Amino acid sequence: METTKDSSIRDQDDGEASALSKVDADLKTQSEALDSPLASHVCENDRRYQGFRPGAYWGPNDQEAADNLNLYHRIFSLSYRGRLCLAPIPKAPERVLDLGTGTGIWALDFAAEHPSATVVGTDISPVNIDPVPANVTFKQDDFCEDWGSSHENYDFIHARCLYGSIPNYPALYEKVLKGLKPGGWFEQAEISVIAISDDGSLKGTHMDKWGSLALEIGEKTGKSFAIAEELIPQIQKAGFVDVRSHTFNWPVGEWPEEERLKELGRQNRIGWEKGLDSWANLLFPKVLGDLRNPKIHAYQHMTVCYGRKPLEPAP
Ligand SMILES: C[S@@+](CC[C@H](N)C(=O)[O-])C[C@H]1O[C@@H](n2cnc3c(N)ncnc32)[C@H](O)[C@@H]1O
Repeated sequence: METTKDSSIRDQDDGEASALSKVDADLKTQSEALDSPLASHVCENDRRYQGFRPGAYWGPNDQEAADNLNLYHRIFSLSYRGRLCLAPIPKAPERVLDLGTGTGIWALDFAAEHPSATVVGTDISPVNIDPVPANVTFKQDDFCEDWGSSHENYDFIHARCLYGSIPNYPALYEKVLKGLKPGGWFEQAEISVIAISDDGSLKGTHMDKWGSLALEIGEKTGKSFAIAEELIPQIQKAGFVDVRSHTFNWPVGEWPEEERLKELGRQNRIGWEKGLDSWANLLFPKVLGDLRNPKIHAYQHMTVCYGRKPLEPAP
């Protein structure tokens, strides 16, 4: 397996949820719920969460959350220099699956870039896009459940930012392997929740403590937030072949000198600020001050790992 890791701030390439209690009283939600039991939502602390399998996912699914997912889509694009994935997928894939598609933005962009492909985006929350392009389908589905008839169906399965969402890696990756055609690719990209700095500027700050608190939440819910750190060995163990990974350094804040990284850091800082409320509501407001302190040179790792389903079944 080849691994690339950034050792400087410049990108290098070597290779429970809360107790969801109150059903949304909002009229719109009630009428959606009447239309389809899958489309209902629950609300807590002024945020809206999915009503299908309530509590299965920790994050809200309201407009604010959607805006932040779309912001991170742009940050990924900056990091990948405009690419949508790093795996060496065929030029004209036929069938593609985006697991936990969120707002569906990756699926839409991928479908536009690959008109030959039929792209399916699945999520535990409904995807609110209308109209949907002819080569895209969105389905409300729990990826931890049986995938039904999707045996050897896909050329490429993509997953991104599933921290705090996977209770059992081997069980999920077994489904992914089953769903892929022989030789098909799987790629998963995950942002570490742990901020780091090389010059000691983060040490002892609230932001420094944030990472371990986030990891504790994952330990309590049984859905790890250390996924960026656990991803590579889990994908290797699952039986994928030709596994490669890249770790990027994503600055938090505008402190880098290089213009591209300054912009990435600015957008990442805004993403942190907007995401803090959904992460912990009132738990970590002090982290806000650290995010805006130019003397703190924090960054975090983003790791992407991909591998192929073997052409022959294992003996
Ligand atoms: C942080 S968001 C990332 C969304 C998207 N992949 C992206 O990168 O923009 C995680 C997504 O995973 C979805 N999710 C979490 N658990 C899920 C499950 N068991 N089945 C399907 N989707 C799930 C959530 O609803 C949410 O939309």
